[in-house]
Order: sequence, then structure tokens, then C-alpha cells
Amino acid sequence: MGILDKHKIIETNATLLLVFSFLVVTVGGLVQIVPLFYLENTIEEVEGVRPYTPLELAGRNVYLREGCYVCHSQMIRPMRDEVERYGHYSLAAESMYDHPFQWGSKRTGPDLARVGGRYSDEWHQDHFQNAKSVVPESVMPPYGFLARKEIDGRYIHDIMSTHRFVGVPYTDEMMENAVADFMAQADPNADSDGLQARYGEEAFGHAVNVRNFDGQPQLTEMDALIAYIQVLGTMVDFSTFTPDASR
Ligand code: HEC
Repeated sequence: MGILDKHKIIETNATLLLVFSFLVVTVGGLVQIVPLFYLENTIEEVEGVRPYTPLELAGRNVYLREGCYVCHSQMIRPMRDEVERYGHYSLAAESMYDHPFQWGSKRTGPDLARVGGRYSDEWHQDHFQNAKSVVPESVMPPYGFLARKEIDGRYIHDIMSTHRFVGVPYTDEMMENAVADFMAQADPNADSDGLQARYGEEAFGHAVNVRNFDGQPQLTEMDALIAYIQVLGTMVDFSTFTPDASR
């Protein structure tokens, strides 16, 4: 009896075929999955990447609530046309504190992974009020109402706790100062030394943007959203970054 005839026994018996298929898939799956449990981390950590400040995190929540991800991606693929248009391809580390990640799956508008710092706050204010006023052919809806929605950081501690629960390394000090940091970031007259000490130059190699993002005295969802948009893709310094080829 040749090997093919033996195989015929399996092929002609549905139950036996099922049992063996199951075994093969199980072993194959284990070989792939088990090693991952023994790795401390599957993401190469990159200098500069930090958790979002309380205000940026609140802005990110506005981004989620408004469904911006339906039209915008946040992942630059390592292909020439993308890199030329949007900048350095996205690193896994750059979304390691994003829960859930905002890679998106559709680009009605451009990728936003590196939009931070590309336009002024005023440009964003005008653009969110009425996109057509700055880009006449735009189909992006208006979001002017965000500038009328005042926020006070009431829930920010809870939101940060949730992120901490799923692994974002907010320290006890960051948690204790959540509301103060939240208020300080959009107020150029406030004392933002604490905010900078926790999230800025000394801790992560680059300063936190502190300014009145929406240009009005009240703290609004527009401040939070622009603070978030302006930090996207700016945490890693690509003039000094070299990928770790050993991993
Ligand atoms: C219906 C689809 C749609 C939705 C929803 C949408 N956008 Fe857009 N967005 C666009 C299009 C199209 C453009 C390109 C034209 C323009 O600049 O207005 C754009 C452009 C942008 C730009 C400028 C990007 C660049 O590099 O020029 C930013 C920033 C932006 N959108 C942010 C947002 C945010 C934040 C939200 C959610 C509050 C959002 N968009 C929701 C379609 C959308």
C-alpha cells in the first residue's frame, strides 16, 4: 500500500478528514501564537512617543464621536507615493497608546497620521467651521458647533483611568493632575510647568503645545480637537530616528 493509498483512507472518510484537519490547524496555530505570549512586547518602542495629554485625549474622543475615521485614515503605508505625500511611513509605536487605533479603512479625505503642525490653528478653525472656505472643492461637513461646546474636564480622569486600565502608562501623578493639566494646555496664561514636566521636553524630548487653540476665551471641544490634530505624527523626531533592524 503506497502513501497515496493511505491518504485515500483519510480523503474518503469525512470524519477522519475533519479530525486530522483540526489537528493540523491546531498545531499550526499554536506554533504561530504561543511564542507571542513569551515576548514582553511585540512593538519596537520609539523615543518620543508619549501618552496623549488630557486635552489631546479629550480631542481624540471628539474625533471618535464625530466619526472622522469614516473619511480619514491615520496610517501612512511604506509606499513611495504615500511617503512623498504624507511623510515618513507610520510606525507601530506611534499608535501604541491609541485605544482603539485610528488606522481607518477609507480615505474620502487625506490621511491624518502626520497632519500635526502642517497647518496653523487658525486654518483648522476656518476649516472646521466651513471646509469649503479654505478648500473650495471639499466635501467635508462643517463642525463649527464644536466651538460652542464648552468642556471642563469633568470626565477626563475616568477616561484616563480606562486608558490606563488597557495599558497606557499614565502615572499616578498624571492621574492626580488630570483636570489641572486639561485646563492648563489651552490657557497660555496658566501655569503649565507641571504639564510640561509630566508630558514635555524632559520626559519625552519635545514640548507640549500650550496655547489657545480655538482663539476664544472659553475652553471648548474645538480646543481639544485642534490640540489632538496638532500633535498627530509629531512625537517621533525622524531626523534622528533609525529603525531597529534586529527585530
Ligand atoms: C464626509 C467625509 C469627511 C468627514 C466625516 C470628515 N472629513 Fe476631514 N476631510 C474630508 C475631505 C474630502 C478633505 C479634503 C478637503 C479639505 O481639506 O477639506 C478633508 C480634510 C481634512 C483635513 C485637512 C487634511 C490635509 O492634510 O489637508 C483635516 C485636518 C480634517 N479633514 C479633519 C477632520 C476631522 C477632525 C473630522 C471629524 C471632526 C473630519 N475631518 C471629518 C472629508 C471628511
